[in-house]
Amino acid sequence: MQNLPALLLAFALALPSNSVRADEPRYEQLRSVNAEGIGKFYMGREIAHVMGHPAADWLERPEREREERPDLLLAALELQPGMKVADIGAGTGYHSRRFAQLVGEQGTVYAVDIQPEMLQLLEQNMTSYSVRNVRPVLGDIKDAKLPASQIDLVVMVDVYHEFEFPYEMMESIVRALKPGGRIAFVEFKAGDRSVPIRPLHTMSEMQIRKEAGAFALQWVKTVSTLPWQHVVIFAKVGDQRK
Ligand SMILES: C[S@@+](CC[C@H](N)C(=O)[O-])C[C@H]1O[C@@H](n2cnc3c(N)ncnc32)[C@H](O)[C@@H]1O
Repeated sequence: MQNLPALLLAFALALPSNSVRADEPRYEQLRSVNAEGIGKFYMGREIAHVMGHPAADWLERPEREREERPDLLLAALELQPGMKVADIGAGTGYHSRRFAQLVGEQGTVYAVDIQPEMLQLLEQNMTSYSVRNVRPVLGDIKDAKLPASQIDLVVMVDVYHEFEFPYEMMESIVRALKPGGRIAFVEFKAGDRSVPIRPLHTMSEMQIRKEAGAFALQWVKTVSTLPWQHVVIFAKVGDQRK
């Protein structure tokens, strides 16, 4: 990420060994030429390092509202009161608390992250904003740890490209969706020179649709009104695996 302080890369999580085993034929381990990549490839894309919690302040920077326009994201997601929403890779809860306001007291936001330190910051933020309908969930790198067939909408903001096991994560996420439930990939636009983010932290719409295509998901719409990100939305149909 170009505008991101160099410290962010320095704090990229050193995850346990990424070596690809024979029982994981979906993935390829190659030598990385990118500082921000883990050298593991999925469907032709190198997976990026996880953003470590010491860089969490970047997620709460005041200029983020102007740069990323979270209000336009909310409009794209069409949240309704009472919905059960999962914010995967919730970080400090920047988006979770906005979703919580729109789903209201009858709704729930499951805020999933793999870093306990992020969830601690998220809980502090929810207390200081007096938000009571956000449930922190400690996931793992292969499983979002959500209840089966309960979720109306899964949102993944700036996280899918750093899933170490995208296939397994998607399996667990699709399992958690209700039939007809929606999933939104919110990724920095690849190839757009006005987006000040390093390439491995961006994704093209074509790549997102290719990777979502491994599951029984139907493309619903792509929203391109946000300055830096696109929002690619799918709905769950039938069996989760094609
Ligand atoms: C770049 S931050 C984005 C945070 C938040 N979505 C936002 O936009 O403010 C990515 C977050 O995703 C989390 N993450 C990475 N892999 C994950 C996984 N497999 N499951 C859940 N969270 C994950 C990281 O720990 C980190 O907090």
